[in-house]
Amino acid sequence: MVMLSGKTSVITGASSGIGKAVAQLLAQEGSHVFIAGRSGDRLQALAGVIERAGGRASIGAFDVHNYEKLRAFVDEAVDRTGRLDIMVNAAGVDYPGSIIEGKLTDWRDMFETNVIAMLVGSQAAVRAMRATKSAGHIVTISSYAGRGDGFRVYGATKAAVNSICATLRAELENEPIRSVTIMPGAVATNFGRHFPAEFVNSILNSVGIASDFKTGDVLSDETLEILHARASAIFASADDMARAVLYTVTQPHDLSVSEILVGPRKSFPQAH
Ligand SMILES: NC(=O)c1ccc[n+]([C@@H]2O[C@H](COP(=O)([O-])OP(=O)(O)OC[C@H]3O[C@@H](n4cnc5c(N)ncnc54)[C@H](OP(=O)(O)O)[C@@H]3O)[C@@H](O)[C@H]2O)c1
Repeated sequence: MVMLSGKTSVITGASSGIGKAVAQLLAQEGSHVFIAGRSGDRLQALAGVIERAGGRASIGAFDVHNYEKLRAFVDEAVDRTGRLDIMVNAAGVDYPGSIIEGKLTDWRDMFETNVIAMLVGSQAAVRAMRATKSAGHIVTISSYAGRGDGFRVYGATKAAVNSICATLRAELENEPIRSVTIMPGAVATNFGRHFPAEFVNSILNSVGIASDFKTGDVLSDETLEILHARASAIFASADDMARAVLYTVTQPHDLSVSEILVGPRKSFPQAH
């Protein structure tokens, strides 16, 4: 018995990590998933996996900084299915480093991806849900880092995200559209792609994974699965996060699941 039969979902950041796991789980539960990311190859591969398992997936390969394309992708989902039930804002990026030595291009990428694209995607989703009279959920993948001090510029973007989600929640309280904030702790994904190579390699080596990671590389799913399996006390899995998303989108619309903080039991050393 599937839970999302006949529903339509749009998921950004679906070419990797948490967004990818969310897309697979929502598709497995019967939703037609519209999956967005920059890597067309990885989206195509994911769509193949979903379709071979009997699900429906449509891809959109674009940079979320192209806000018109992001809006058009949400509209495409509605045009093709007549509805929008679930919007998951999972695209996100982190550049470690101090504020003193930080780079404007990195700050801009973090704010544009983590905050502005999430605003644009959420606004497009609300408009689509209203227009099609769909009772919906807008789920944003924020972070533990949005809750406290000391998480660098990345933490500032996620604090902004938390505030935006809360405001959206209040704006929508008289409608059947819920805004949910999910704040993961450390998850074994490609999130460390911009981290120093020695930092990532030392983590992988510490659990017995021989690694020649270079900053900018994308790790294989197999490597990430091994990392989670060998270090689950400090790295949750993307599937763990997907189950949290599924929980929120299957609750009654009069119930507001506002925020979920979910992560491994032990804290993780930060990259600086
Ligand atoms: N992993 C963690 O420890 C952790 C902890 C807390 C919160 N989070 C949050 O979880 C979310 C997902 O991250 P993840 O851990 O799954 O990392 P990930 O494996 O690196 O996935 C990031 C996703 O975002 C997409 N993306 C990034 N910049 C984009 C852009 N400009 N345009 C379009 N797509 C873009 C990537 O697409 P391409 O690969 O195709 O470029 C990829 O699909 C992020 O919001 C992150 O802040 C992660």
